[in-house]
Amino acid sequence: MEPSLATSIGKMQLDKPAMLASGILGISLDVFNRLYRSGAGAVVTKSLSSEPWEGYPNPTIFSVNGGGWMNAVGLSNPGASNFAKMIEPNQDVPIIVSLVGSIPKDFEMMINEFKNCNVTAFELNLSCPHVAKVGLEVGDDPELVKKIVTTVKNSTTAPVIAKVGLGTTNYLNTVKTAIDSGIDAITAINTVRAMAIDVETQRPILSNKYGGLSGTPIKPIALRCVYEISSKYDIPIIGCGGISTWEDAIEFFLAGASAIQLGSAIGDNWINVFDDINKGVLQYMKQKNYSTIQEMVGLAKKF
Ligand SMILES: Cc1cc2nc3c(=O)[nH]c(=O)nc-3n(C[C@H](O)[C@H](O)[C@H](O)COP(=O)(O)O)c2cc1C
Repeated sequence: MEPSLATSIGKMQLDKPAMLASGILGISLDVFNRLYRSGAGAVVTKSLSSEPWEGYPNPTIFSVNGGGWMNAVGLSNPGASNFAKMIEPNQDVPIIVSLVGSIPKDFEMMINEFKNCNVTAFELNLSCPHVAKVGLEVGDDPELVKKIVTTVKNSTTAPVIAKVGLGTTNYLNTVKTAIDSGIDAITAINTVRAMAIDVETQRPILSNKYGGLSGTPIKPIALRCVYEISSKYDIPIIGCGGISTWEDAIEFFLAGASAIQLGSAIGDNWINVFDDINKGVLQYMKQKNYSTIQEMVGLAKKF
């Protein structure tokens, strides 16, 4: 029998295990549709806020010498309500809406905007490393995480995912608080706070000075986090960070992820990356005699 690429992240079911990560291709439904038809299991929107945000002036993104990308876009987005109006009632692409805010009320208001939309899940951005009062600054504050997750869980029946990253406190406390507050799944990880300086002008390259590093250089860090979370907690995990090949995908499954997200790899391989990963994972499953993704999840933990 042909192995199946279907996977479940708690009660969320996907036909394919690789999704588009948040912020990589904005909020264009045409692009989402195309990615889905080309093998993505779901798409995550750019993080949306309760009001439109402009973001930082340029330079906001560049490719890093030696691999990876550095960005401080500043969470520019048109606001949750404007995106909610764009979703057609009959759209069939599994859309995960990423939300960013400072206080529980922000999240509650945004969730309400999607009341009549067909949304697969919400992902709470508790981990953007370069915007004040949101993202990591929220994720680093367990009391606030507890209030936000509790409020969001009381506002929707859709699955709610917390996206965590490496801040100034132990990120495992954020994971634990989110789980204790009823979160359905964890996405690990966001970009890692970093910077670069131009030797000619002698100033930081990004207008915001600090940004987030993504792509292949952070893969071992992301993999470590997935392994660590899955070793400590019984919670579905979505792995994210530097994944670009089917071998990377398998590594994340073996570490404990039930699904993965692709960000920077899209910049290098655009539309083919999902199909390439799906084909490679299927081939591996045939070779090893697995019929479901779930059979591989967490296998590396027994060593
Ligand atoms: C240009 C850019 C914009 C991003 N915007 C967001 C965002 O709005 N919300 C979010 O949660 N993560 C955002 N991210 C982080 C990605 O979703 C992902 O967690 C990170 O890039 C690591 O994955 P990768 O190495 O596959 O790119 C952004 C990343 C990049 C490169």
